[in-house]
Amino acid sequence: MEEKNLKVVLASRPTGQVELSHFRLVEDALPSPSEGEVLVRVKWLSLDPYMRGRMNEGKSYAARVEIGETMVGGTVGEVVASRHPKFTVGDKVLGTQGWQRFAVSDGKALVKLPDPRLPETVWLGAAGMPGITAWMGLGQIGSPKSGETVVVSSASGAVGSVAGQLARIAGCRTVGIAGGAAKCDYVVQELGFDACVDYKAGGLDAALKAAAPAGVDVYFDNVGGEILDTVLRRVNPGARIALCGLISGYGGATSRSATSSRFS
Ligand SMILES: NC(=O)c1ccc[n+]([C@@H]2O[C@H](COP(=O)([O-])OP(=O)(O)OC[C@H]3O[C@@H](n4cnc5c(N)ncnc54)[C@H](OP(=O)(O)O)[C@@H]3O)[C@@H](O)[C@H]2O)c1
Repeated sequence: MEEKNLKVVLASRPTGQVELSHFRLVEDALPSPSEGEVLVRVKWLSLDPYMRGRMNEGKSYAARVEIGETMVGGTVGEVVASRHPKFTVGDKVLGTQGWQRFAVSDGKALVKLPDPRLPETVWLGAAGMPGITAWMGLGQIGSPKSGETVVVSSASGAVGSVAGQLARIAGCRTVGIAGGAAKCDYVVQELGFDACVDYKAGGLDAALKAAAPAGVDVYFDNVGGEILDTVLRRVNPGARIALCGLISGYGGATSRSATSSRFS
């Protein structure tokens, strides 16, 4: 049977939370590469918070997805046909092929996986965009010093999990904030944070005070909103705050109004 492409396109723009009806599944002919192009079979797709912003109508730091277009996304795939001098069939590649099974690429945004010994998915996680974000934000903005207290929100997520582990390696007391007991257990037992506060359990201010009795020297923030407000009340003089993301506002009518209200 002839192989087809299958892709998820944006069907309509959400004004609040994303639902299945905002997407449409489309079956298409398998694209074929022209001279200087490759055909990639997508093996892994990373679903990331930034995608919510790309679904909005308004202006953003990156181009929005148009209605009917394939959703954007970081991918790891395999070259299955090549008319490009730098790629051969079988190459494993990191790229942005989006929510689809196959995609043609001119090779400009494709990178061969640097180290075949590592699991392919690591290039979408700890060794990819989220890990680099954590490394840059913690190192460049947070500048953690041994003995300091570092707090990380969304601590079990792709970025927060790496930021917290890097803070531990730097010799800091590392406190995570996550939603639910199971996530907090994972953050402490698997990721090695010193403590984790469950913000869904209530009493965040008191719980944070208990987990960070010497105050907060570095805050790596992924969520904004009330959690940011609470941590700000506990920062020490000279504290550094890496404002990495504001996910608590992404599901609002527009991310601009949701986040700007926090600082008004
Ligand atoms: N600046 C950059 O270049 C850059 C790059 C990558 C990511 N980011 C930002 O970094 C943040 C984390 O990204 P990620 O890839 O690590 O995300 P992720 O792995 O998808 O984790 C997202 C987590 O955020 C938490 N969350 C969702 N809604 C929340 C709310 N209303 N209040 C509190 N927590 C909430 C949830 O964890 P709980 O269940 O624990 O609440 C969720 O599992 C996002 O804000 C993202 O936009 C920024």
